[in-house]
Amino acid sequence: MGDGGDDGRLAARAAAGDAGWSTRDRFRLPPGVIYLDGNSLGALPVAVPPAVADAVEIQWGADLIASWNTHGWWLAPGRVGDRIAGLLGAEPGQLVVTDSTSIDLFKAVIAGARLRPQGRAVVVDPDSFPTDLYMVTAAAELVGLEVRSQAPGRPLAPDTAVALFSHVDFRTGELHDLPAVTAAVHDAGAVVVWDLAHSAGVHPVDLDANQVDLAVGCSYKYLNGGPGAPAFIYAARRHHARLDQPLPGWHGHDRPFAMTPGYVAAPGIDRLRTGTPPMLSLLALEAALAAFDGVPMTAVRERALSLSGLLIDAVDDWCGGEVEVVTPRDPARRSAQVALRHPHAYEVVRALAAAGVVGDYREPDLIRLGAAPLYVTHSDVLRAVRVLADVLSGRQWRNPDFSARNLVT
Ligand SMILES: Cc1ncc(COP(=O)(O)O)c(C=O)c1O
Repeated sequence: MGDGGDDGRLAARAAAGDAGWSTRDRFRLPPGVIYLDGNSLGALPVAVPPAVADAVEIQWGADLIASWNTHGWWLAPGRVGDRIAGLLGAEPGQLVVTDSTSIDLFKAVIAGARLRPQGRAVVVDPDSFPTDLYMVTAAAELVGLEVRSQAPGRPLAPDTAVALFSHVDFRTGELHDLPAVTAAVHDAGAVVVWDLAHSAGVHPVDLDANQVDLAVGCSYKYLNGGPGAPAFIYAARRHHARLDQPLPGWHGHDRPFAMTPGYVAAPGIDRLRTGTPPMLSLLALEAALAAFDGVPMTAVRERALSLSGLLIDAVDDWCGGEVEVVTPRDPARRSAQVALRHPHAYEVVRALAAAGVVGDYREPDLIRLGAAPLYVTHSDVLRAVRVLADVLSGRQWRNPDFSARNLVT
């Protein structure tokens, strides 16, 4: 049993949790929908449509190419990067928004390996998101390193050059101990790369204080940048002078408009840029980040734990043991996402969506429900678990309409 006890206690907890929290108004969500998939694609911030209209009509439509100067397009990757750095506990000048997370992973792993030329192996958690595994394998092959599969927290061999871990496990929602794991990687003489896809915008992370070397992450999840929004890459300032990334394009050049044939890397974080950024998406992301204005990340973290804790307790109380809570219950080891195991998880997720509760499914049997703290309320969480309990007890998931797999699951 959860600590929520009877329904009244859960309702009182929900009311207390929602009192005085107002960032929900910074988002536009369809009426009647409880959106618990911000861990995949964040909701639309109200600031985005007018910003995109301005970017299209005024900046592109009227001002045309002058906008690279007059609207600060050229500097946007670093400017937006500094805003994200602020959410991740990093001083300005150490993070740029560029490319996709997959490509940034490739850059970070190779740049990290080149910081430790005497190293012979790349360590990666086998439970990582598949793109991390694919990119590490390709990167290691190119630079002649062995790939070792190892969960975070296990001791590393002294010949490790670089280790790549995810702060939050994309399946289970488990939060790894970033400070301790980073320190252990350093003790082995290696460089750490963190994938922050599932913690940026929901956890303070404290990149600088934790001495993280390199980090990457998506901006379309809890940062709400929109579908295909460009990713971010962080490199600690102490590494900049020696940072040698494998995709040196002209946007990372020291003097891009000198148009010289030889590559000279920009002195700072700009050396991690490659080519022309997707400006409309980047400007949409910049507008989206206003949803975090005035909200300390410690408060976001606290609210994430409160929401996911309430969700777990309501599942315990109302779902009659029909699903297994896979996410760790220990608050130190979880974040905003709760994963539930059910043998017909795909059908359950489809039945939930038909009833207005949007979560998602991961192979082979996981229902993922992400309570994005800026726009999900505690009362949303309770209503969603009520719907889940009905779907399970009424066997609504048995409807044959819910078993045909969509292209995107
Ligand atoms: C942990 C993690 N890394 C990377 C990605 C995706 O990278 P990309 O934006 O290149 O598709 C995801 C997508 O969900 C993810 O969960």
